[in-house]
Amino acid sequence: MTTPRPRSSRSRLITATGCLSAAVLTVTLAVPALAAGSTLQAAAAESGRYFGTAIAASRLSDSAYTTIANREFNMITAENEMKMDALEPNQNQFNYANGDRIVNWARQNGKQVRGHALAWHSQQPGWMQNMSGTALRNAMLNHVTQVATYYRGKIHSWDVVNEAFADGNSGGRRDSNLQRTGNDWIEAAFRAARAADPNAKLCYNDYNTDNWSHAKTQGVYNMVRDFKARGVPIDCVGFQAHFNSGNPVPSNYHTTLQNFADLGVDVQITELDIEGSGSSQAQQYQGVIQACLSVARCTGITVWGVRDTDSWRASGTPLLFDGSGNKKAAYTSVLNQLNAGGTTNPAHHPAADGWGQLHGDLLGGPEVE
Ligand code: XIL
Repeated sequence: MTTPRPRSSRSRLITATGCLSAAVLTVTLAVPALAAGSTLQAAAAESGRYFGTAIAASRLSDSAYTTIANREFNMITAENEMKMDALEPNQNQFNYANGDRIVNWARQNGKQVRGHALAWHSQQPGWMQNMSGTALRNAMLNHVTQVATYYRGKIHSWDVVNEAFADGNSGGRRDSNLQRTGNDWIEAAFRAARAADPNAKLCYNDYNTDNWSHAKTQGVYNMVRDFKARGVPIDCVGFQAHFNSGNPVPSNYHTTLQNFADLGVDVQITELDIEGSGSSQAQQYQGVIQACLSVARCTGITVWGVRDTDSWRASGTPLLFDGSGNKKAAYTSVLNQLNAGGTTNPAHHPAADGWGQLHGDLLGGPEVE
C-alpha cells in the first residue's frame, strides 16, 4: 500500500526546487505542469482515480447528452443494457446490440467500461424468473460465462453479483430464486467470471451498505472477508450510493470504505446520486467524494446518469447537471473536492507511469502545479 501523502503546496514546491541543483530544476520544469482539473475526469485523474457515469443507449443520439458525457467522464456503465434480461432475452440466445452500442461509444471515445451486472435477482428475463434449483444455477453460470467471455478484454470491472443481501437488521442474504439454489451461488458466479475474463476486476455491488453500523454492511463485509480467506476470486466491492433524506450520506462513510479496503479489495462508488438541491445536496456530494479520496483503494466514482432529467429518479433531481445541461452547485463541489486531492490510488501512482519520479519522490506527489 502507498502511504498517503499530504498534498503539496506551491510554497513547498518552491522550497523544494530551491534546494536542488540547476540540472534537476531544468528537468522539473520540463515536466508538464498539472493544472487543477477542469472536468470531473481530469480532476479525479490527478489522484489516479476515474470518474464515471451511467449511459443509456437510447440517449446516444442526443448530442447535448453525449457532449457532457464525453467531456466529463472516463468510465461508463450501461444503465440497463448489460443486465440479464437485456443480454439473454431467450435462454441461450444472446443479444448484445445495445450493450455493444454503449461499449463501442465508450471505447471510441477513449473511455473504460464497468460491466453491470452478471447475476442479480432483479431484471431477469422472464424465462429465468420461472426457473429454480439446478436448472437455474446452471442457467445463471452459463449466462455469467457467455457474457464475460463475449466482453473479455473490454471490461475494467464487472459487477458479478448485485444486491444479494437483505435490507433490515438480519445481515443475511436476500431471499431470491438465485439464493434458493444454495448459499454458494455467489462464489460460483465469481469463479465462473474469473475463468471467463481473468483480467477484469470482479466486484460485489450493493446499496444501503454505506453506514458501517448497519447489519447489511456487516453482512457484506463478512462475506468478503470469508471470500478473501478462502481464495474466492473477488477484487472489489461496489457501493451504489443512492442517497436521499431517508437514507443520507453517513458520517462514518470513510470508515466503511477503509474497512472494506483493508480486506484487500478495491472499493468503488458505483451508482452515486443524491436527491435534493442547492448547497445541501452539494455538501452531501462533497462528503462522498471526500470519503473516497481519503481511502487509497477507493479507485473511482460513478454517478448514475448525466442530467437530472436522465435519472431513474428524475423527480429527486439527484445528479450533477440540470435538465438543460447546466452545472449544478453539486457539480462545483464535486470538482473542487476532487481538485483538493487526497490519497493516491496505489495502482496509478505517478512513479509507476514513468514521468513522476521527480514529482513523486522529491517534490511530494503529482499534485504540484
Ligand atoms: C435502474 C435503472 O436506472 C432504471 O432505468 C431501471 O428501470 C431500473 O434499474 N441498482 C442498480 C441499478 O444496480 O441497475 C438500478 O438501475 C438502480 C438500482
